Amino acid sequence: MACFQLILLLLCSILVIASGNDIGRNLPIISFDEGYSHLFGDDNLVVLRDGKSVHLSLDERTGSGFMSHDLYLNGLFSASIKLPSDYTAGVVVAFYMSNGDMYDKNHDEIDFEFLGNIRGKEWRVQTNVYGNGSTSVGREERYNLWFDPSEDFHQYSILWTEDHIIFYVDEVAIREIAKEKAMGGDFPSKPMSLYATIWDGSDWATNGGKYRVNYKYAPFVAQFSNLILHGCAVDPTNNPLKCENSPTPRSINRSITPPQRLKMESFRKKHMTYSYCYDRTRYKSLMTECVINDQEAERLMRFDPVTFGGGKHHHGRRRRHHHGQTLATSF
Ligand SMILES: *[C@@H]1O[C@H](CO)[C@@H](O)[C@H](O)[C@H]1NC(C)=O
Ligand SMILES: *[C@@H]1O[C@H](CO)[C@@H](O)[C@H](O)[C@H]1NC(C)=O
Repeated sequence: MACFQLILLLLCSILVIASGNDIGRNLPIISFDEGYSHLFGDDNLVVLRDGKSVHLSLDERTGSGFMSHDLYLNGLFSASIKLPSDYTAGVVVAFYMSNGDMYDKNHDEIDFEFLGNIRGKEWRVQTNVYGNGSTSVGREERYNLWFDPSEDFHQYSILWTEDHIIFYVDEVAIREIAKEKAMGGDFPSKPMSLYATIWDGSDWATNGGKYRVNYKYAPFVAQFSNLILHGCAVDPTNNPLKCENSPTPRSINRSITPPQRLKMESFRKKHMTYSYCYDRTRYKSLMTECVINDQEAERLMRFDPVTFGGGKHHHGRRRRHHHGQTLATSF
């Protein structure tokens, strides 16, 4: 009997692990042409024969990128990404949401940015959020990963609801941003498109610009598959905004479960290397949403002395430049 129970328990935990493995499980994967358009970089964007997978490359001529046809108000947005390997210093791959094309002065943005590195050093991941043009207030966090993201595909997801944003790497929630009164308009609230780009971030991406892109190693190819757009598509000229297709905001209103929260805390303890909350060079006073932990402060002090806090900031940059889209307008 005890044995039977043990087996049941084992089976159950296997099921739990399996079902927690994929944030976008059972969500539809539409073809590239159905959901996305070519943004820039002409034939540096290649749609594979399955019609769903995309290669974005960066060479001396240009980076490349694509964006969703629709604008979404809330949703779950996800991609499996395999990053370029070998020497990738200065290379930036971005998977993000933005409405900068529509709102020049008060745009919203939710970012996953992958920062390349010199040989033998890992890619790093950065997340950030802007709301209503809050570009002078970067809310960057940086992490290393528990795997080599250039070796295989991993799933990166953004869950955006009315009251919180969660970033996921595979099944692990790595960051949650709750909408708090004090954040005011800094919490993204207007419809955004989904973007994916690869571009030359030589000036800041790797040790504050110390290591630039070396085109001897080009082309740098980022591979995308399992692209998920599960959100409330809206026509921003309609007032009030209404979902033009399902799902409704309700169906994406998930919150972090207690086991997920434990995992998130453990991830952040082990892998976070920078948080704006602890950057006293950039921000003299604490941002209201920040909760300071002395141990964390001490641990983070050991990382990333160059890119942030050293005077070489990139947070004042124009968004277009930031994601390599200046190239789009010059073609
Ligand atoms: C966003 O900014 C605009 C002007 O830039 C302002 O009128 C509006 O009240 C702001 N919205 C929020 C939610 O703060
Ligand atoms: C989302 O869920 C929270 C509680 O989990 C609830 O307070 C909120 O009203 C929900 N929002 C929507 C749009 O259903």
